[in-house]
Amino acid sequence: MLLNLIFFFLSSTLLVDCAQMGARNRAWPFLSVLFLCFSLNSRICIGASNLFVGQSISGDQTIVSEGNGNFELGFFTPGNNSQNYYLGIWYSKLSQFTPVWVANRDKPLSDKKSSQLKLLEDGNLVVLDSSNTIIWSTNLTSTSSNSTEVALLDFGNLVLRNISNSSDLIWQSFDHPTDHWLPTGKLGLNKVTNVSQRLISWKNSEDPTTGLFSLELDPAGSSQYFTYWNGSVPYWTSGTWNNHIFSAVPQMTSNYIYNFTYVSNDQENYFTYSLYNSSLISRFFMDVTGQITQQTWVEDVGWNMFFFRPSDPCAVYEICGAFGVCNSQASTSCQCLQGYNPRNSTEYLTLNDWSGGCVRNTTLQCVNNASGNGFSTMSNMNLPINAQSLAVGSVQACKTACLNSCSCNAYAYNGSCFVWEGDLLNLVQLSNGQTGGQDLYLKVSTPETSGSATGAIAGAVSGAVVLLGLLIVLVWTRRRRILIGHSKGVEGHLAPFSYKKLQIATKNFSEKLGEGGFGSVFKGTLPDLTVIAVKKLGGFGQGEKQFRAEVSTIGMIQHVNLIRLRGFCSDGTRRMLVYDFMPNGSLDSHLFHEEEHSKVLDWKTRYQIALGTARGLAYLHEKCRDCIIHCDIKPENILLDAELCPKVADFGLAKLVGREFSQVLTTMRGTRGYLAPEWILGVAITAKADVYSYGMMLLELISGRRNCQSDDEKIGGFFPTWAARKINEDVEILSLLDHRLEGNADLAELNRACKVACWCIQDEDVDRPSMGQVVQILEGIVDVKPPPIPWSLQNLAQNHEHIVFFSESSSKPSSQTQSSTLCTSSQSSSSTSSTNPMA
Ligand SMILES: *[C@@H]1O[C@H](CO)[C@@H](O)[C@H](O)[C@H]1NC(C)=O
Ligand SMILES: *[C@@H]1O[C@H](CO)[C@@H](O)[C@H](O)[C@H]1NC(C)=O
Ligand SMILES: *[C@@H]1O[C@H](CO)[C@@H](O)[C@H](O)[C@H]1NC(C)=O
Ligand SMILES: *[C@@H]1O[C@H](CO)[C@@H](O)[C@H](O)[C@H]1NC(C)=O
Ligand SMILES: *[C@@H]1O[C@H](CO)[C@@H](O)[C@H](O)[C@H]1NC(C)=O
Ligand SMILES: *[C@@H]1O[C@H](CO)[C@@H](O)[C@H](O)[C@H]1NC(C)=O
Ligand SMILES: *[C@@H]1O[C@H](CO)[C@@H](O)[C@H](O)[C@H]1NC(C)=O
Ligand SMILES: *[C@@H]1O[C@H](CO)[C@@H](O)[C@H](O)[C@H]1NC(C)=O
Ligand SMILES: *[C@@H]1O[C@H](CO)[C@@H](O)[C@H](O)[C@H]1NC(C)=O
Ligand SMILES: *[C@@H]1O[C@H](CO)[C@@H](O)[C@H](O)[C@H]1NC(C)=O
Ligand SMILES: *[C@@H]1O[C@H](CO)[C@@H](O)[C@H](O)[C@H]1NC(C)=O
Ligand SMILES: *[C@@H]1O[C@H](CO)[C@@H](O)[C@H](O)[C@H]1NC(C)=O
Repeated sequence: MLLNLIFFFLSSTLLVDCAQMGARNRAWPFLSVLFLCFSLNSRICIGASNLFVGQSISGDQTIVSEGNGNFELGFFTPGNNSQNYYLGIWYSKLSQFTPVWVANRDKPLSDKKSSQLKLLEDGNLVVLDSSNTIIWSTNLTSTSSNSTEVALLDFGNLVLRNISNSSDLIWQSFDHPTDHWLPTGKLGLNKVTNVSQRLISWKNSEDPTTGLFSLELDPAGSSQYFTYWNGSVPYWTSGTWNNHIFSAVPQMTSNYIYNFTYVSNDQENYFTYSLYNSSLISRFFMDVTGQITQQTWVEDVGWNMFFFRPSDPCAVYEICGAFGVCNSQASTSCQCLQGYNPRNSTEYLTLNDWSGGCVRNTTLQCVNNASGNGFSTMSNMNLPINAQSLAVGSVQACKTACLNSCSCNAYAYNGSCFVWEGDLLNLVQLSNGQTGGQDLYLKVSTPETSGSATGAIAGAVSGAVVLLGLLIVLVWTRRRRILIGHSKGVEGHLAPFSYKKLQIATKNFSEKLGEGGFGSVFKGTLPDLTVIAVKKLGGFGQGEKQFRAEVSTIGMIQHVNLIRLRGFCSDGTRRMLVYDFMPNGSLDSHLFHEEEHSKVLDWKTRYQIALGTARGLAYLHEKCRDCIIHCDIKPENILLDAELCPKVADFGLAKLVGREFSQVLTTMRGTRGYLAPEWILGVAITAKADVYSYGMMLLELISGRRNCQSDDEKIGGFFPTWAARKINEDVEILSLLDHRLEGNADLAELNRACKVACWCIQDEDVDRPSMGQVVQILEGIVDVKPPPIPWSLQNLAQNHEHIVFFSESSSKPSSQTQSSTLCTSSQSSSSTSSTNPMA
């Protein structure tokens, strides 16, 4: 009663401001939950989040979901450059605008003020454009309209329901998903109508138009999901459900977040899922990249991706479009072939919408035996689909055949001759480690033009003069910029490099050392013969000033166990970092790729690497002025100098590339377990996340094996689980040691290393030691208690149980209240805990 009074008071006083109050007014979330205003329509404000017959919303007015108000329904525009409006549902409380459902995805509105969402007298919920034409409708044929209402439920489900019985749903948006499958929603097949629900990707991140990739339950009736390209070509399957996991997704056993349920009866087959912890914010969707994706919301970080399939982006059918080539190691998967440009460069280069493909930027001359054309070799490729095979017996004949055919775009020869006449589709560049690729010869126009007419030459000469003029201007402006850069000298001891200088030093970026989430690394030599490693940063979300500021912060961090930044390059949109070159490469190559090194790392060296890495991290976390959480500790990021002294690489880069951090995690997502549980659970990330990753890495250093599912019968499953058990029981510690060392290790050191590793991978971050403590333990200064087996690992071992992560009344880690912004400037947790590893 009192509430009602307050309600009326507020609603009458706020009447004037109704329009502003609606939409995304985050400062007043409480009010927007309670009241919804219909000032345009009926000049009254109504309570709760319902719409009755004859009522409508328009412009900035929104409906907020019942209950906690987690979702909001209204008109929106998807991205900064879009002029189109859509009716949709999004998360109302997240700092990042994330639509989860769109009504009129293929029929955009040009204006939101004159568009309406209205419940008609015939019982249909419709979207009307400015001329009152129905552009979207629930299409119901028979309802008694006066007894229905529209409501937005707190799971993000928009429903049309019986006023007198709120569980009697007449229509619901969960039955008509766009690209999202939200918790409690269903995704299945109606066996009566043979209609299946599909998640269909957006066209690109700024355009909800029906895209090319979809996910649906097997139309033939089995319990497996398929992803399709253009509704017809399957490119991935989950495998069938065995009541616990999908057979092709065994990793689901470690999924303590979702509770999947399969229902199959005469009417329908469907899956539904719920969250074990209902306060977690989690979504499952078909991404514009054609990958099904699960993300959880992590405060201060944003959406964190922890599951996606297919895990290889290049396994998505036709992902790069015609004449595009896919490279799963690169930071952007798709590129146009040599001599081709994107058909629409905005879509291809900035929106990750590669479906338009590429087109030749100069048409090839087409005469038989065309002397102006040649071939460019592409090595280690997965060949395009739709090859034609020719019955010719030599590589030369194959080449000639392609050259002589105007429509031939490429050929390959492996004993048989293959040529491609139409579009080149599904072309994949394999990485250095992958085998099974072949050479593909791509037809290009050779540099020597065969122009003979004098007119052409004259044109070329005058063109050259203009070009020369341009070049001079360019060189001059660039000079000037470099000079200015020098004179400022903001970066202290960091050297600014010009692009040209690095281009020369790296022989035009010809010797690639590696590729990571942040970009590629190339070897180079400076004029004074110093050998350097140049990291070309992918993605340039940052302005010059901010970049320089961040670089100078990183440049200030110096420690014998951290890789030293020598300089940087910021030239136009190009951003590069210059480091000392590490002759012994990264730790993973020593541990897992025997063939690359003559000697297996002995125990003494391994222990020094463990200790040095810990010291470097302790410095990052605790000692330097702007403390940094690394966030991506793994053997690939530990480099070894000439003396095999470890140097931690890649710290502080997340802010530099200015990208969403979850994107930067691409290299580790889903594959191996360096990720601390808090990454998935949506709680704040502290330095203890690095401690977890360090612990996992330490196990790999000890055992010389990857922490993955093992076929070894002795181990029976996940290696860290087995190791943790042995360490906990303090038995057979020697069996954890890399067998290549044949037992040659200092037992006291081995014991310490094993214990500390197991302490580092505890579930709760307060139970893990700090990196400073790890150093002390490894140095033998302090002793350490036997560690408990982390129970997420224990559960992982029991393959066929539902795993409930939250069953214990776990006290909240105190570190959770600490601020952590994008893995920088957060103190490591100094909290003490009941289970302190120190004896
Ligand atoms: C829109 O612009 C803002 C600020 O410039 C930016 O933070 C945001 O990411 C942009 N949104 C999209 C979808 O590009
Ligand atoms: C309603 O029917 C129209 C025309 O048949 C169709 O285009 C539209 O997709 C339908 N809407 C829904 C929500 O099913
Ligand atoms: C619904 O209510 C309106 C007015 O309140 C009335 O005109 C209409 O006939 C009713 N329709 C039905 C099906 O009862
Ligand atoms: C709504 O529920 C009432 C009572 O349960 C029922 O009599 C009525 O037929 C229902 N209306 C519709 C449209 O289903
Ligand atoms: C309300 O609707 C549900 C679902 O249609 C139905 O099972 C239930 O019997 C209805 N309750 C009443 C009181 O009609
Ligand atoms: C639905 O599809 C299945 C298999 O594709 C087929 O056997 C069945 O006859 C279809 N049913 C209807 C109603 O179309
Ligand atoms: C998708 O399939 C439809 C026919 O189902 C076809 O008309 C269309 O061209 C296809 N799209 C592409 C990009 O090939
Ligand atoms: C999982 O969901 C099903 C159906 O929604 C429910 O019956 C079951 O109790 C849930 N399991 C757990 C462990 O919460
Ligand atoms: C064609 O594209 C390539 C690569 O983008 C570029 O280097 C070349 O200058 C282009 N040629 C023309 C004529 O545009
Ligand atoms: C390129 O794509 C963008 C976004 O989809 C679109 O707005 C633009 O019109 C396209 N450009 C051309 C030349 O087609
Ligand atoms: C082109 O034709 C000439 C003579 O007709 C022949 O000698 C030459 O080998 C041909 N070149 C190619 C690349 O086929
Ligand atoms: C559920 O998640 C929320 C937010 O991430 C967290 O605060 C809460 O402690 C979790 N509940 C349990 C039982 O772990």
